[in-house]
Amino acid sequence: MLKASAFGEDFHWGVAIAAAQNEGAVQEDGRSLSIWDVFARRKGAIKKGAKPSVACDFYHRYKDDILLAKALGFNSFRFSISWSRVLPDGSGKVNEAGIRFYNEVIDECLRVGLIPFVTLYHWDLPQVLQQEGGWESPLINRWFKHFAKICAKAFGDRVKHWLVLNEPVGFTSLGYMLGKHAPGKKSLEGFLKSVHHAALAQADGGRVLRQYIPDAKIGTTFSCSEIIPYTDRPEDLQAARRLDLLMNRLFIEPLLGKGFPEDDMGLMDKMWRQNQSWKYVDRMQFDMDFIGLQNYFPVVVKHSPFIPILQATEVKPAVRKVPHTAMGWEINPASFYNIIKRFWKYGAIRELMITENGAAFKDTLSQGRVNDPERIAYFQSHLAALLQAKKEGIKISGYFAWTLMDNFEWAEGYEARFGLVHVDFKTQLRTIKDSGHWWKELFRT
Ligand code: NOJ
Repeated sequence: MLKASAFGEDFHWGVAIAAAQNEGAVQEDGRSLSIWDVFARRKGAIKKGAKPSVACDFYHRYKDDILLAKALGFNSFRFSISWSRVLPDGSGKVNEAGIRFYNEVIDECLRVGLIPFVTLYHWDLPQVLQQEGGWESPLINRWFKHFAKICAKAFGDRVKHWLVLNEPVGFTSLGYMLGKHAPGKKSLEGFLKSVHHAALAQADGGRVLRQYIPDAKIGTTFSCSEIIPYTDRPEDLQAARRLDLLMNRLFIEPLLGKGFPEDDMGLMDKMWRQNQSWKYVDRMQFDMDFIGLQNYFPVVVKHSPFIPILQATEVKPAVRKVPHTAMGWEINPASFYNIIKRFWKYGAIRELMITENGAAFKDTLSQGRVNDPERIAYFQSHLAALLQAKKEGIKISGYFAWTLMDNFEWAEGYEARFGLVHVDFKTQLRTIKDSGHWWKELFRT
């Protein structure tokens, strides 16, 4: 039987949430709009026209929600800071009400006995900065350093665990190339610029945090997926290599001081020349105390002549008839183990934490109960895979379940439910799902 104690005494067990997905209160107490508030107004951008304006109302209910995380037995709590709450103009003047809110959240975590893990940037750029070019603008690096400094100075006395960026591949590719996330752009040039600036920002952010909070543990997060070629035909193998470069290598390699990966793909080569990134290899490097990996599924891929540059297309789990979640993501704990090993092989990582892992299913609330055995099985099998990796000597010091409660799942709106706690978005009623009780039991025994 799986035991939490097998992971060691000082293991960080947490749940993760994010400002734009949970807080709501988007126009309260001086907060300005973020790119997600504006993107959500666009017709067809988000399922059923959902908006993040109320979400889980965490802004007003944070005390109860933090207590809930504690009641489930966790010892750590990951949340992000809304840039537009703290700096409504994006840069410049600080909004004291915003600082006060996060001070209260932090103090509440400490009061109930949860270690706060703070993410600086979880995808919600202030709209005012988007109007100036957002992540495509070279100015973003100055704006971001300012934001990081304000947060470090305000919260660094109590927050000793930091994450600089949340999944940079996610917000650059979905937001600037595929148009599926805010700000909804579809441009290869824009994507390349945003990648370049985000790679600088993740290292710059690390340096700012280290300067102002010398005793902090600093990390950043990467989405990752094992990429599995559909067949061993050379063109499928090449498709897999390219997707791997994009999905797994793009941001970690510059951070580790290797510069951008440019082998085997004209795309990166182009970026290299366009941004003259070779000049920045040193500045893109930063020695993180830990790397946060976020994994949900593997990707099976085959060659496709129709996809520009990448020439690769996914063979979806439904087509392959393998188990998958309500997001259509394959459930494959072995691939979780494989991708952890793969990152550890870089050799230059001090410590890993799993800063997100979880699953969405079609939950139903019936007579005050949500019976979600598939989610329990998902956590069980992924924790077993994690434990195996840990036993083999990989330094893994934490695991954060995504997520505490059902929330605003970006372009999926409120349809995709990932929570350990069910939220009725009409009444804001919280109901602990069976999976939440399962966690509680795991920590109790
Ligand atoms: C990664 C993102 O960081 C998080 O915001 C999102 O909700 C989960 N994955 C699930 O898609």
